[in-house]
Amino acid sequence: MNILVTGGAGYIGSHTIIELLEEGHEVIVVDNLSNSSRESLVRIQNITQKNITFHELDLRDRDGLSTIFDTNDIDVVMHFAGLKAVGESVIKALHYYQNNLEASMTLLEVMKTFDVKKLVFSSSATVYGDPEALPLIESACKQATNPYGQTKLMIEQILEDICATQEDWSITSLRYFNPIGAHESGLIGEDPNGQPNNLVPYIAQVAVGKLDMVKVFGKDYDTPDGTGVRDYIHILDLAKAHATTLQHLDHPNVYKAYNIGTGKGISVLEMIAAFEKASGKIIPYEILDRRPGDIANCYADPSLARTELGWYSEYTIEQACRDAWRWQCDNPDGYHTPAATI
Ligand code: NAD
Ligand code: UD1
Repeated sequence: MNILVTGGAGYIGSHTIIELLEEGHEVIVVDNLSNSSRESLVRIQNITQKNITFHELDLRDRDGLSTIFDTNDIDVVMHFAGLKAVGESVIKALHYYQNNLEASMTLLEVMKTFDVKKLVFSSSATVYGDPEALPLIESACKQATNPYGQTKLMIEQILEDICATQEDWSITSLRYFNPIGAHESGLIGEDPNGQPNNLVPYIAQVAVGKLDMVKVFGKDYDTPDGTGVRDYIHILDLAKAHATTLQHLDHPNVYKAYNIGTGKGISVLEMIAAFEKASGKIIPYEILDRRPGDIANCYADPSLARTELGWYSEYTIEQACRDAWRWQCDNPDGYHTPAATI
């Protein structure tokens, strides 16, 4: 298949592209590089020895996007492009709504014009807000608590409405839990801007000596050891979920949403211990107050994806830590601005 991957230079898109190329698909990437580097695409080509077509373009550029659809025979779109930092979305709400909603709307309109009606969308466990019951099932109550989460909820609603009211669309939203880890080659991985907000990149930078100690946000939650519990999923399992979903986009007028998680909750202290084991380093930490807006516990019931898609997670938390550690050691400063172009 010819697959248009929006946001393909980013963390999840880049790992998914490897999976798609290895399955024999052709990949066309559209990314404005606002939170990523061209270097990730160069490295994908080194890993796979396959070519990618890359367009540096903002999805809101309707004419540019139309030209790409006009000159390529696109079968399916995987839509990763979007801004994703929860804290930043609170400060720059309008910017988040503008970017995430307008990019998605423009994409959908151009897809309609060119009669491309198969889409996989990157959603998030954040659409569930603070869970009323665990593990989370897809029909659980949804309530975003920040502008980033609102954009995911709104886009999901738009996608559901399109499938309900327009002919022949087949759309699947994948609600990711907490993606971690990196490709086993150590060549691509997560490359946060500045000091990481998310736990595992932060731990990795402490382990490698770039940061002093992990700040554990709260030890008084109603969880087994008092620290926050999340469902951390290896990025390669997440990538595989996309390739698997492609095989299930043949049913027109169907909108589906699936939890993409492991079903296992891991606490902050358990994650620090797992990373110590993977890295062979002592990881100092201090207990601080809770981070505003955090929830105690969040993990998936991933059984719908297993039953309907045949997908389930296979990597362990130890493997995810090992791969995150390899990426961190081999690329202490993430992707450098490359001389190479593609
Ligand atoms: P990322 O920032 O690494 O990748 C997103 C990519 O989209 C970047 O390369 C960025 O340059 C590009 N982009 C943003 N706005 C664009 C626009 N208007 N036009 C063209 N390109 C644009 O993020 P990621 O972690 O790879 O996340 C991918 C998707 O998955 C996002 O939609 C994110 O909200 C969602 N998601 C991520 C997580 C996570 O923890 N990483 C969890 C749940 C959902
Ligand atoms: C965050 C986002 C969520 C996104 C997810 C995956 C928020 C509020 N939510 O979720 O929308 O889908 O990332 O990328 O930002 N922790 C520490 N110390 C740290 C960092 C984190 O103790 O330095 C703790 C947190 O309190 C939490 C756990 O580690 O209990 C995971 O945090 P994080 O990696 O930021 O992910 P989420 O908060 O689950």
